Amino acid sequence: MQIKNKLKDKTEIELCLSAQNAKEKAYSPYSKFNVGAAILSINGKIFSGCNVENASYGLTICAERNAIFGAVANGEKHFTKIAITSSDENIITPCGACCQVLAEFNPKIKLILFSSSGKIKITSLEKIFPQPPKLKKLSKK
Ligand code: THU
Repeated sequence: MQIKNKLKDKTEIELCLSAQNAKEKAYSPYSKFNVGAAILSINGKIFSGCNVENASYGLTICAERNAIFGAVANGEKHFTKIAITSSDENIITPCGACCQVLAEFNPKIKLILFSSSGKIKITSLEKIFPQPPKLKKLSKK
């Protein structure tokens, strides 16, 4: 079943479709594992990212961090939701590094995790990464 038939919220459907499109852009010749993410800012803007691998394996960057960094580079710092999908038939959860980066901006961000086979899990960063390092309050600018 398609993801758009499993969600009611229009913006969440849009967010998932954006993550799905980003997944198609993944550069993953080494793992052959494609990941796409799309993050929603409080201003209603959506930024997507895919994983980009490298011959020097450690330089690989995850889809989630690419989405967040792109958003920040475009002036957004406050986020409410992120959708994440991959080429796997099961849902995936963000890695520790991505959880840490997400927590910098919103330790309670809603996670919409869905698989290529239509499985979906709605959770939050708070649930899977409950004790991030204490953060300084974000400035409004
Ligand atoms: N990857 C992501 O982009 N996000 C995740 O949440 C899990 C892993 C990427 C990194 C690497 O390119 C490939 O998936 C295999 O780990």
